[in-house]
Amino acid sequence: MASLVLCLVSFAFCFLHYSLASNNFNQDFDVTWGDGRAKVLNNGKLLTLSLDKVSGSGVKSKKEYLFGRIDMQLKLVRGNSAGTVTTYYLSSQGSTHDEIDFEFLGNLSGDPYIVHTNVYTQGKGDKEQQFYLWFDPTADFHTYSILWNPQTIIFYVDSTPIRVFKNMKSSGVPYPNNQPMRVYASLWNADDWATRGGLIKTNWSNAPFIASFRNFKDNNACIWEFRKSSCTNSTKSWFSQELDSTSQARLQWVQKNYMVYNYCNDINRFPQGIPLECTFNSTTS
Ligand SMILES: *[C@@H]1O[C@H](CO)[C@@H](O)[C@H](O)[C@H]1NC(C)=O
Ligand SMILES: *[C@@H]1O[C@H](CO)[C@@H](O)[C@H](O)[C@H]1NC(C)=O
Ligand SMILES: *[C@@H]1O[C@H](CO)[C@@H](O)[C@H](O)[C@H]1NC(C)=O
Ligand SMILES: *[C@@H]1O[C@H](CO)[C@@H](O)[C@H](O)[C@H]1NC(C)=O
Repeated sequence: MASLVLCLVSFAFCFLHYSLASNNFNQDFDVTWGDGRAKVLNNGKLLTLSLDKVSGSGVKSKKEYLFGRIDMQLKLVRGNSAGTVTTYYLSSQGSTHDEIDFEFLGNLSGDPYIVHTNVYTQGKGDKEQQFYLWFDPTADFHTYSILWNPQTIIFYVDSTPIRVFKNMKSSGVPYPNNQPMRVYASLWNADDWATRGGLIKTNWSNAPFIASFRNFKDNNACIWEFRKSSCTNSTKSWFSQELDSTSQARLQWVQKNYMVYNYCNDINRFPQGIPLECTFNSTTS
């Protein structure tokens, strides 16, 4: 209300306030691939990505960020989505890039999606954790958030933390803290690995597959522009956010009941010993 009054009084405030606050895919994202299969609808409020036998599609944010809390609402591909992967992630560029990933692995009708997460530091991933969800992600929109600040990375689903990757740089574990990242979203065919390790192939008679996105928010993330960051921590609640004890309990509930895979427990994969960060904390790292 106060902002509306100010808005009426000052055009400059109004313009700034509402252009920054409103989420508009036309304004915030570029379509990067898919030859018309990525569509911005409802005056910029809705983004749909589509996949058929010829191609998938994808977008990336216009802005680059160095730390932030990014929210996006997704409604995943309905029905038989086996073989498809919907992604929503942060990534920098180049061979030593950093990346923070949400990937949603489709499934046969009625079988559960898997939420696949990963963190890349200095070009190296191999930190996968996978989860089932406690709801049907194709029935409605749900909010998927990435909190990325100097102390921690937290993946949230509807405000429930599902994964934490702490800054353990002082112990020699690389942490993404100096490469700006963009927000990406895409829908593509990954039937060589996505559903039960590639066992179930995409059924193209169900194409086109469509995933929807809305309510993108960068919550005053630190914008990287002209080779420097807009960031000051004073007004940003997410900047120093960590898990409180309630969230810690939620995280443990998810990890106990919904975690499908944790690289830290996959001993066979790491014959030279489990990754360093796992030795600090096998449940949350
Ligand atoms: C698909 O459903 C099967 C059977 O319930 C399950 O084992 C698998 O984890 C589900 N998700 C994916 C992506 O394969
Ligand atoms: C693919 O989907 C169609 C239509 O739903 C169905 O009739 C067909 O049996 C499916 N093919 C396979 C291999 O499951
Ligand atoms: C936030 O900024 C203040 C003043 O610049 C500084 O003293 C404080 O350490 C900063 N906090 C974090 C978490 O970086
Ligand atoms: C490890 O995880 C547990 C449970 O989530 C948490 O209470 C503890 O603080 C974590 N320890 C470290 C070193 O991160």
